[in-house]
Amino acid sequence: MPYSFFEQAIYLLIFILPAYVANSAPVLLGGKFAIDMGAYAPDKQRWLGEGKTWTGLFGGFFAGMLASVLEAHLLPGTQFDIFGSQPQLYLAVGALTCAGALFGDLAGSFAKRRLGIASGAPSILDQLTFLFGALLFCLPLNLSIIFKPSSLVFLVCFTYAIHKGANYFAHIAGIKKVPW
Ligand code: CTP
Ligand code: MG
Repeated sequence: MPYSFFEQAIYLLIFILPAYVANSAPVLLGGKFAIDMGAYAPDKQRWLGEGKTWTGLFGGFFAGMLASVLEAHLLPGTQFDIFGSQPQLYLAVGALTCAGALFGDLAGSFAKRRLGIASGAPSILDQLTFLFGALLFCLPLNLSIIFKPSSLVFLVCFTYAIHKGANYFAHIAGIKKVPW
């Protein structure tokens, strides 16, 4: 029986949740030891900038993996189990999507600096590069539920909206200086 839109949306959110956690945890856990060590590229901009740090990278990966471990413990056997007879996929997919999200975020900052956009200034790259990184890294797993047009459209639209909303609330709550 084909999935309803609602079921498909829930499955996709379960799939992408660890990457969301990995992408947002650095705001709380990061901020120390710039990955580019303060170095400047030939275009006289930082390679990545002060907003991309080792504490954010490792904190983000750790937090994202924690979300995967929780999913692997809580979901098998329930109606929300997206990997059926292969519960180890929660951890494999979690590791790949978290690493991919963090890598995509770094690639986004690299691109922002090359475009002359200051660290912390808003760009569409903030919302989407981490998602594309997460998807790219799990391409080898050939997950049929993810790599179809309707799923990709949903993930892009939902991620854009939730990222905007979450940053706005993080700003109101005093966790982020800027509302983006
Ligand atoms: N952060 C971090 N390490 C990372 C990613 C994020 O320490 N790898 C922390 C930084 O304190 C950063 C904050 O989380 O300022 C918000 O992250 P993000 O919005 O991704 O970075 P920006 O500061 O906006 O920098 P950029 O313009 O390069 O995206
Ligand atoms: Mg930002």
